[in-house]
Amino acid sequence: MIGRLNHVAIAVPDLEKASAVYRDTLGAKVSAPQALPEHGVTVVFIELPNTKIELLHPLGGTSPIAKFLEKNPDGGMHHICYEVDDIIAARDRLKAAGARVIGDGQPKIGAHGKPVLFLHPKDFCGTLVEIEQV
Ligand code: CO
Repeated sequence: MIGRLNHVAIAVPDLEKASAVYRDTLGAKVSAPQALPEHGVTVVFIELPNTKIELLHPLGGTSPIAKFLEKNPDGGMHHICYEVDDIIAARDRLKAAGARVIGDGQPKIGAHGKPVLFLHPKDFCGTLVEIEQV
């Protein structure tokens, strides 16, 4: 059911420092920071030949990643995102298999303007999983 790895998201306490690591140390193509107030994050997009890395930094008082950074002050891998063809069919199949979909179960428009859902890390080997309809 899942397709390509769309991105790996890493929460970071210092966006400029993290951007420099990817740009200067690892030699990757790194975007300017982009504020996504509706998601409570500022994002830096890193293009790799086969996938993307997203550096996430909290924006505003109720950011979904603020708590994660409290627990992981140096930053850390926050979620991975897999592509699906049909997000409703994927959701229904996952729910039927006993997986927990986070929130009200209705897809939201994600950072790339496409419908996304998040799946509970306890059901996926301790990793928060995002599915995105492409
Ligand atoms: Co994501």
